[in-house]
Amino acid sequence: GPRFPQVVMLVGATGDLARRKLLPGLFHLCSSGFIPGCRIIGVSLDELDTEGFRAAARSALDEFGSRKVLPAAWDAFAGILDYVPLSGGAQALRRAVERAESSLGAPECRRLHYLSVPPSAALSVVRMLGAAELVERSHIVMEKPFGTDLASAVILNRQLHEVFDEEQIFRIDHFLGKEPAQNILAFRFANGLFEPIWNRNFIDHVQIDVPETLGLGKRAGFYEQTGAYRDMVVTHLFQILGFMAMEPPTALEPAPISEEKNKVFRSMLPIVPADVVRGQYSGYRQEEGVDPDSDTETFVALKCHIDNWRWAGVPFFLRTGKRLAEGQRIISIAFREPPKSMFPPGSGVGAQGPDHLTFDLADASKMSLSFYGKRPGPGMRLDKLSLQFAMRDTGLVGEVLEAYERLILDAMRGDRTLFTTAEGIERLWQVSTSLLETPPPVRLYEPGSWGPKAIHQLIAPHAWRLPF
Ligand code: BG6
Repeated sequence: GPRFPQVVMLVGATGDLARRKLLPGLFHLCSSGFIPGCRIIGVSLDELDTEGFRAAARSALDEFGSRKVLPAAWDAFAGILDYVPLSGGAQALRRAVERAESSLGAPECRRLHYLSVPPSAALSVVRMLGAAELVERSHIVMEKPFGTDLASAVILNRQLHEVFDEEQIFRIDHFLGKEPAQNILAFRFANGLFEPIWNRNFIDHVQIDVPETLGLGKRAGFYEQTGAYRDMVVTHLFQILGFMAMEPPTALEPAPISEEKNKVFRSMLPIVPADVVRGQYSGYRQEEGVDPDSDTETFVALKCHIDNWRWAGVPFFLRTGKRLAEGQRIISIAFREPPKSMFPPGSGVGAQGPDHLTFDLADASKMSLSFYGKRPGPGMRLDKLSLQFAMRDTGLVGEVLEAYERLILDAMRGDRTLFTTAEGIERLWQVSTSLLETPPPVRLYEPGSWGPKAIHQLIAPHAWRLPF
């Protein structure tokens, strides 16, 4: 049947993610004509009515939307919003969807159920959708983290499959929806220059570094249960690692791409707790909603290995944390140094670290390639120079979608290229098992720093690429 119109059910519609990303994203998709004629049903624990939800949506757009909200566009968007509180149960959901379908004049239309709820609540919502008979003609988007460890992810997958078929399930990881993340695939597989050196013979190590300046805001309840490893590493950072490390897929299609990523995850060695630095920023335990004895980490740095032909012996260093010195999202490849140096001692070669190829996952792609070159003047003095690329400077403009917008649209269209699989996620929990069971102690770090001091030992004899 036709893809549009659809009924979108947004569960967790008043939560942090919905306010920051999902409602502004749906607004943009709607006002730019990507999702013609849809209706959106907000669902949450809050006892609101439709007017109350429209007001909440409006304030979310005003606070977090990156685009101007024109009156006509707002009226059109507000007009497609409905609301039902979760307390109404399965029957209320069912009636709301039927009302939406009949007001669209499309009783057989497709549906998208977006579950923006914590892992502990996901299953009961899935069951409610089953009880409401809202399964056929539907896709369901599940937010990360998907489960909290291997056992819970396996159970969640099994129980999810009691209600939905695998083809209906879209496990989202919004980092894969970022333009620069997809550009990694283009860069690697559309060019002949880099792929031949993309391996252990030329690469010394890889860093995936995502420091954030943000604190927790109002998310303490979620974050206390989650921590930086589950929130960022087992999800976003490992998925990006999959794109960086995978073999060329046989086609740019969902199954071959997932297969290659899953092969990377299968080759990953279990994370060794001794290769992990867990940190917590000073002051975290005093924040509202945080246990005064909390052991939750707000920072993780770790070393991991992909033990296959391409990557054996090449360490991957990952880091992320809250309230750090800078907000960055970079992937940096350090190349091996030349086998012999003909430059006299003191010429500067090697002093500023190895050559790097760096991807910046900012909103628009940026890349740089650093190398040694000659400093102008007599004699031979070397300096680190670089080639810089910024998509912004190219004048290339497309209809740019933010990560969540792109992925919501793909889920509505049934395109799973940028979604994760049950197998991949279970494997990533599996490699995390000993870390989750015997985590190293959290070390305090100062807000505004780069994390606990132990991060330098972790990466020695190399050094963190950041700060630039
Ligand atoms: C989310 C995490 O998935 O990603 C947040 O839950 C984090 O803790 C966010 O801040 C970072 O996303 P982005 O797109 O701002 O880099």
